[in-house]
Amino acid sequence: MNQIIVLLIVIAMHFGLNESCPDHRVVITNQLGKGRALQYRCTGSHDGSNTGIRTLAKFNQSYQFLFRDWPTSWTDEQNRSRFVCDLSWGPQNENRADNIEVYRAAMNRRCGLLRQYIAREDGFYYRSAYNVPVGWVRGWTKK
Ligand SMILES: *[C@@H]1O[C@H](CO)[C@@H](O)[C@H](O)[C@H]1NC(C)=O
Ligand SMILES: *[C@@H]1O[C@H](CO)[C@@H](O)[C@H](O)[C@H]1NC(C)=O
Repeated sequence: MNQIIVLLIVIAMHFGLNESCPDHRVVITNQLGKGRALQYRCTGSHDGSNTGIRTLAKFNQSYQFLFRDWPTSWTDEQNRSRFVCDLSWGPQNENRADNIEVYRAAMNRRCGLLRQYIAREDGFYYRSAYNVPVGWVRGWTKK
């Protein structure tokens, strides 16, 4: 009986903790149109992760990844979760936006944030919630 109660408490705490801090979500979306493919490459400077160069070939196709802030000393800035992506498109991938800091942890632990980056013909756009309009951030640099 006691063991069952302890087990239930452990399960409740497990779900409670997970629910109280959902993962962050970074979304990269190709809205270039006219059959244009978007190339992306994302790296995590804190964990050494690297997607390699990948392609979103279809209109409105997205790549997304989920993660949590590292439970580290928040004063240790070098070790804060930080993801950077490069975007490019065109016949020679000559339209580029490099080193976009798509997520950077703050000094406090945060949960469930959305960071959506949308590539369009005139540059890339950003929003932090699906129910708000996207805002233009930066045009493409020709290389
Ligand atoms: C893109 O996809 C999202 C979700 O999959 C959808 O809600 C949205 O309407 C689409 N936008 C366009 C322009 O097709
Ligand atoms: C950063 O924090 C993570 C998770 O707490 C830990 O595994 C890693 O060793 C830390 N790295 C450095 C350089 O302190």
